[in-house]
Amino acid sequence: MSKNPILLGLNIDHCATLRQARYREYARDCGQMVEPDPVALALSAEKAGVDGITVHLREDHRHIQDSDVWRLRDCIQTRLNFEMACTDAMLQIALELKPETACLVPEGRQEVTTEGGLDAAGQRQRVGKIVENLNANGIATSLFIDPEPEQIKAAAEMNSPLIELHTGTFANAYYDLEQRNIELEKLRQGIELAHELGITVNAGHGINYINISEIRQLPWLHELNIGHSILSRAMFNGIEEAVREMKLRMNLALA
Ligand code: PXP
Repeated sequence: MSKNPILLGLNIDHCATLRQARYREYARDCGQMVEPDPVALALSAEKAGVDGITVHLREDHRHIQDSDVWRLRDCIQTRLNFEMACTDAMLQIALELKPETACLVPEGRQEVTTEGGLDAAGQRQRVGKIVENLNANGIATSLFIDPEPEQIKAAAEMNSPLIELHTGTFANAYYDLEQRNIELEKLRQGIELAHELGITVNAGHGINYINISEIRQLPWLHELNIGHSILSRAMFNGIEEAVREMKLRMNLALA
């Protein structure tokens, strides 16, 4: 089993959600002139040791704006993970932006946040074409998928170097011990399969300061993408302390 520390990618979308709640019109053009600024948050989080910054530029631009991703590209010192829908328009933006990684996610207009994994197995042609294009242009792809063998095998067949396993179903089952253990076991088996197939495994969605004690025991995890819980804690303790505490809990056995 891997003994390397698990890395932390901070998803800063909800900082932009808060900004948009007040400054919907201004945020598009004024960037850092309105608060809270997700780019300033990213820089503080980097000081506290995050390993990467994740943003989802949704097609409806409900939180992160184009200007945010370009300012992040210019400012951050770690890695930019660009979450994107499988569309030609997003592909063009990614090719210009050149993030270190692009994570392909499903996108539904009605959902509050991403609610399930991408059906890579059911959309092999469309997803495979985007994976090929991004990888050929030096952008490592990740597929946000459920821990289902057919999805993991599809990712391997498309030569996606990374996957991000959807941990939301596990997180939602927190108060049902039996179901929670079932979901944790699915994640474990999914990670083992991906590892056998040579894929680097990230995970994310619904991870918090409590359930991290179970998530961190999964084998072979490379990076966790966490947003809501860290940003919530940051409101009380500040972003630097919130990041440091999560990093500590992610790697307790190594501390
Ligand atoms: N990974 C992906 C692909 C996501 O869509 C999200 C939610 O935006 C996250 C990770 C982070 O989830 P959470 O905000 O629940 O930590």
